[in-house]
Amino acid sequence: MIEVSRLSKRYGQKVAVNDVSFTVEPGRVTGFLGPNGAGKSTTLRVLLGLDHPDGGTALIDGRRYRDLRHPLRTVGALLDGAGPVPERRAIDHLTWIAQSNRIPRRRVREVLELVGLSDAARQRVKGYSLGMAQRLGIAAALLGDPEILVLDEPVNGLDPDGIRWVRNFLREYAASGRTVLLSSHLMTEMADTADDAIVIAGGRIVAHGPLGDITAGHPSLEAAFFALTGGRVGW
Ligand SMILES: Nc1ncnc2c1ncn2[C@@H]1O[C@H](COP(=O)(O)OP(=O)(O)OP(=O)(O)O)[C@@H](O)[C@H]1O
Ligand SMILES: [Mg+2]
Repeated sequence: MIEVSRLSKRYGQKVAVNDVSFTVEPGRVTGFLGPNGAGKSTTLRVLLGLDHPDGGTALIDGRRYRDLRHPLRTVGALLDGAGPVPERRAIDHLTWIAQSNRIPRRRVREVLELVGLSDAARQRVKGYSLGMAQRLGIAAALLGDPEILVLDEPVNGLDPDGIRWVRNFLREYAASGRTVLLSSHLMTEMADTADDAIVIAGGRIVAHGPLGDITAGHPSLEAAFFALTGGRVGW
């Protein structure tokens, strides 16, 4: 369970996240939606202990990330722009993360299989396509077999096949009773993937609830998104 309460984060004069509160439930895919600069990545970075909040809390299973006893076994994360050293082979990248977190080596093979990269495991990451790199990022997030997945823009730049793979994967993950939170600004994609949505604009939550409730009265999620975020861009 993810609980964000009255979270605020400033960068100098810029308020990136402004008094944000929401919870994310297990067994569902929750989309974290908002235009560029809305505060999605900032919120997720604070949740994952990579940034300090100026106010409020972001808790995973009731604890701050840095207080988790087994962080990788609790929450798997894929962050925008984070990636392995290009010279590394995929299998070495995953083995290094596994060993530094006391995760058995056989789990590396398992996650490579799960994301469909077994045959490319010994290739250097610099030769990977964007889709393969995203799959590798998801494999790393899955190493600890976590109950919670947090993914920042996991389908950014993927082709339709890659997008469908991520969508099906996340839906199955949530269907097994786990918690999935993913950010995106791709509304049509989110309409097919998420059960619940949290919409953020200008650092503030403008809607939160089942997708059906948010789109009610609008022809599409995209139309609802523009109605909710209209004129409230974050940059
Ligand atoms: N390290 C930083 N230093 C200064 N300003 C920052 C920093 N990180 C984010 N910001 C600012 O905070 C605001 C929110 O940024 P954030 O990256 O959280 O948005 P986002 O919703 O993830 O956007 P995108 O869809 O473009 O990824 C933006 O105005 C951004 O310029
Ligand atoms: Mg972002």
